[in-house]
Amino acid sequence: MEQINPGKRDGFTSKFGIVAAAAGSAIGLGNIWRFPYVVGESGGGAFLLVYLSFILLLGIPVMLSEFIIGRKAKKNAYGAIKSIAPGTWWPVIGIMGIVAAFVILAFYSTIAGWTLHYVYLSISNGFKGQDAQALENLFGSFMSSATMPLFWQMVFLILTAGIIIAGVKKGIEKYSKILMPFLLLLLISLCIRALTLPGAMDGLVFLFKPDFSMINPQVILSALGQAAFSLSIGMGALITYGSYFPKSTNLSNTAFEVSLADVLIAILAGVAIFPAVFALGMQPDGGVGLIFMVLPNVFQQMPGGYIVAIAFFVLLSIAALTSSISIMEVVVAFLTEEFNLKRKHATVITLIAAAFVGVFCTLSWGTFEHVSIAGRNIFDTLDFTASSILLPLGGLLIVLFTGWYMVKGEIEEELTNQGVLKLKLFRVFMFLIRFVAPVAIAVVFLNGIGLF
Ligand code: PFF
Repeated sequence: MEQINPGKRDGFTSKFGIVAAAAGSAIGLGNIWRFPYVVGESGGGAFLLVYLSFILLLGIPVMLSEFIIGRKAKKNAYGAIKSIAPGTWWPVIGIMGIVAAFVILAFYSTIAGWTLHYVYLSISNGFKGQDAQALENLFGSFMSSATMPLFWQMVFLILTAGIIIAGVKKGIEKYSKILMPFLLLLLISLCIRALTLPGAMDGLVFLFKPDFSMINPQVILSALGQAAFSLSIGMGALITYGSYFPKSTNLSNTAFEVSLADVLIAILAGVAIFPAVFALGMQPDGGVGLIFMVLPNVFQQMPGGYIVAIAFFVLLSIAALTSSISIMEVVVAFLTEEFNLKRKHATVITLIAAAFVGVFCTLSWGTFEHVSIAGRNIFDTLDFTASSILLPLGGLLIVLFTGWYMVKGEIEEELTNQGVLKLKLFRVFMFLIRFVAPVAIAVVFLNGIGLF
């Protein structure tokens, strides 16, 4: 592959590598674990519609803004904003991003750990002959125990840290590039199986037919949070990745392609899950365990289901890894560049801190099941804080910064690669980041938390 970023700072090397790494960050548990369960709890089709509008009108503009900031400044999220706006309070965006990264890493590794355990269960043929009720019980007793979930969470965090230490090119790019296309194929085959189960149509109706009576300010905020979480926006992960992009990357195309791939995978996950949920006579609002309870059923009803189950959970674990490395990279890039720490030391510090908070998340259904903050357990509290508060606020500040603080010429330079590319839809983009996105995010946020 052509070496297009030969500078001293580590960076991505090929066009496909760039899109794959950014898509690798976006596509993860957010699409396959979180999307179906949030749709299921929020009543289906109407949520999907709101979610898709947010991706288009708010998500893509925030993503593009992050790429612009990152590639222009070539620094970590905090350092990038500080170098564009020295002596101002704007770099607080970077600090919020670091906090969000820790919070997400803590609960993300819980679910990734569950996924690793399900790799183990599928290899040891642990679903065999179990009906829907038995699989629900299996999951319920696993999630509320302590040892295995914690063990797998630590395995996952250590794997993440290992790839981070290996560095951007050797680590992130290599893994993302090879594996994402496989996940897509596997999901398609799951969709086909789910759609041919008796009673599958009800699942499609649930997912695609909007019932607007299900919509309220909390559901709208949760759609915004899901859009932000799924696209990896609002905490500087894509500022950080943007800083590794070479001069020749077409930022607008990359933002479109990544968002499209992300939405596609989420919808496919929905099409694989909901028909099965209805066919099995289960409830769509099964909560955080939805995919772990439903999919093992589907695998058992497929030819080659034993292999498909293994492949699915392995690929899901890898998708989770390519996302979690982008989360950890936010903190590690910050620590190495702002405090001159060695990459290895920065990674180990981040790992220990995330593992500490992560333990409390993982024990939310067991040891700490009685801890409740405003009606949410520890896990849900951290997920809500990150997805529905920190990411939307981060996204709001990022579009305000790009739209109102940065000079128009600087933005144009990044979008056209110093005049090489044609400027397309520039007025639309500026209008979205200056007016539409800030107003919409502010209204949704204030309404959703009940302040408006
Ligand atoms: N987008 C990832 C997913 O859908 O699983 C999660 C994520 C990664 C969120 C990076 C935020 C982030 F900065």
